[in-house]
Amino acid sequence: MVGRRVPSAARGATTAGAAAPANKGSSAAVDVVIESSVASSMLSRRSPHLVSGVLAGLGLAVALLLAGCGRQHSVKVIKLAHALDPSHPVHLGMAHFAERLAQKSGGRLRVDLYPSGQLGSERECVELLQLGGLGMTKASSSALEGFAEAYRVFGLPFLFRDEAHRWAALDGPVGREILLAAEDKFLRGLCYYDAGTRSFYTTKRRIERPEDLAGMKIRTQESPMAIRMVRALGASATPISFGELYTALQQGVVDGAENNPPSFHLSRHYELCRYYVLNEHTAVPDVLLISTHLWRQFTPEEQRWVQEAADESERLQRRLWNEASDRALAAVRAAGVEVIVPDKAAFQAKVAPLHGEIAREMPAVGELARRIGEARP
Ligand code: GCU
Repeated sequence: MVGRRVPSAARGATTAGAAAPANKGSSAAVDVVIESSVASSMLSRRSPHLVSGVLAGLGLAVALLLAGCGRQHSVKVIKLAHALDPSHPVHLGMAHFAERLAQKSGGRLRVDLYPSGQLGSERECVELLQLGGLGMTKASSSALEGFAEAYRVFGLPFLFRDEAHRWAALDGPVGREILLAAEDKFLRGLCYYDAGTRSFYTTKRRIERPEDLAGMKIRTQESPMAIRMVRALGASATPISFGELYTALQQGVVDGAENNPPSFHLSRHYELCRYYVLNEHTAVPDVLLISTHLWRQFTPEEQRWVQEAADESERLQRRLWNEASDRALAAVRAAGVEVIVPDKAAFQAKVAPLHGEIAREMPAVGELARRIGEARP
């Protein structure tokens, strides 16, 4: 599949409120920079004298910044890579995480953000976390289905009654349990970010009823649940990574895709897809993940800072979402996209059997769905 070029403005990492960092050479989960509290601010980060090495087996790159005189303290640099645009509300959540972590740790933990898929696709980043080659990532829960079965529950269409129910479930015991479901695979979920609801968009034909999807080729995430849902609606499902989708739509490899309004807008897929039907079939959350290899190297105090910063970023990000989503819808409308408000019940009826099928095939997922159903705001 042909790749899509990352816009130049999006290349290079961003540190909370700072310019691109220097430590690009290492691919390890965390760089430890020992720097002088007196001299470090005077040094250009781009030209430090670095002595680096790799601690075998841990994938931990250690860089010593020989900063001259003054008291020294170590700065652990965590790389956080993801697939979205830097103006996306989910990226802004992560930027807030980086900022809060720097504040809480007095600058000892630094997060460098690598947006726009520049370190790889969602799946590749998740795999790097498992290997210890990357510290953190943000992935859609759909992309995690292959790593822990529990995440499949969020792929069930029309799982949540409304937004209040969704947050009651995600913030409650069942949601917290799922965040830790992939810990034995070296993937620790820290928090959920709001990724709204997903709806179909298409290049040539408008969709208003489920029957309109018949025979269409729809891009899905690399998610067995999304594939099942699209097939249940009568379309054929083609899994493609987010970064490759623009080209796939352009070349007619697929006739459409599905996503939330900010991602539809900021990916510029609306330039090619002139119909957006707000059927809101799923509400899969995004998940902020840390490599368990890295987590275990932190002191209990550092772990507390990381978790607290994640929780605070989660709260801020949710406040940003609805407005960002409305803005994205207004922007695509202004660009000439026809936004269709369908009868959602027709879509819901068509995919309803999936709930029973999944519960029979995967009883543990069925049980999670039942507990989610019971969550009360
Ligand atoms: C959402 C989600 C991304 C994901 C994308 C996709 O935008 O936030 O993490 O990559 O969907 O459809 O792949």
